[in-house]
Amino acid sequence: MALRPYIVGNWKMNGTRATLAEARAIDRAAARHPAVDVALAPPFTLIQAMAEAVQDIGVGGQDCHARANGAFTGDISAAMLLDSGARFTIVGHSERRSLHGEDDAVVRAKAEAAQAAGLSVIVCVGETEAERDSGQAEAVVAGQLDGSLPRGDNAAASLAVAYEPVWAIGTGRVPSVADVGAMHRAVRARLVAVYGEAGAGVRILYGGSVNAANAGELLAADEVSGALVGGASLTAESFSAIIAAAATLAA
Ligand code: PGA
Repeated sequence: MALRPYIVGNWKMNGTRATLAEARAIDRAAARHPAVDVALAPPFTLIQAMAEAVQDIGVGGQDCHARANGAFTGDISAAMLLDSGARFTIVGHSERRSLHGEDDAVVRAKAEAAQAAGLSVIVCVGETEAERDSGQAEAVVAGQLDGSLPRGDNAAASLAVAYEPVWAIGTGRVPSVADVGAMHRAVRARLVAVYGEAGAGVRILYGGSVNAANAGELLAADEVSGALVGGASLTAESFSAIIAAAATLAA
């Protein structure tokens, strides 16, 4: 891995205070692997408590609103995330795109709001199964990147991109290592086209059914600088094995 590995757990709508014990155990595992950056994105309700409970891992949000405040019932702004102890946020996850109707423009606005508030951002992209089957995967992802990436002077400096094929999320199915490498090379090319040289330093995470058994080979694919992990990030046992796999590759 050319860039410092970044292993991020997305807890989605899972976790209560009882689950903080797992976060503490993940924190201890991360401390044993200082060459790997580790982070967790718990539900909003756990951010503050988790940020106070851990030392070595980053804590972030799974989404934020594009506006700083106002009449947006149920929403959370980037400044609120920061205030509760978050240092980054995910935006544009496929579950937000499909279940909440977020398009590229919304995702870009959220990413820019997050960076303006002082958070770093993980922008998610990925094709559906039908799009892959019809040979459009790279074009779809390129289009999502063009529409969703934050612009602005230092945007690349606090950015990661997660490539998550929709059909691989929560399904136990993963693309071949060759397909992951090909897509990540294409993402890198878009990042360099958008940001110039700074695009070479943006970490590109693979996400979609990453687990302890497949992490080693997925993380070794071309231009993969980490993983965005859902189900396997919920327990320290499985997530620590993924962190260890990244550490092995980084050594
Ligand atoms: P999964 O989820 O690891 O459970 O497939 C990944 C994600 O949606 O970020």
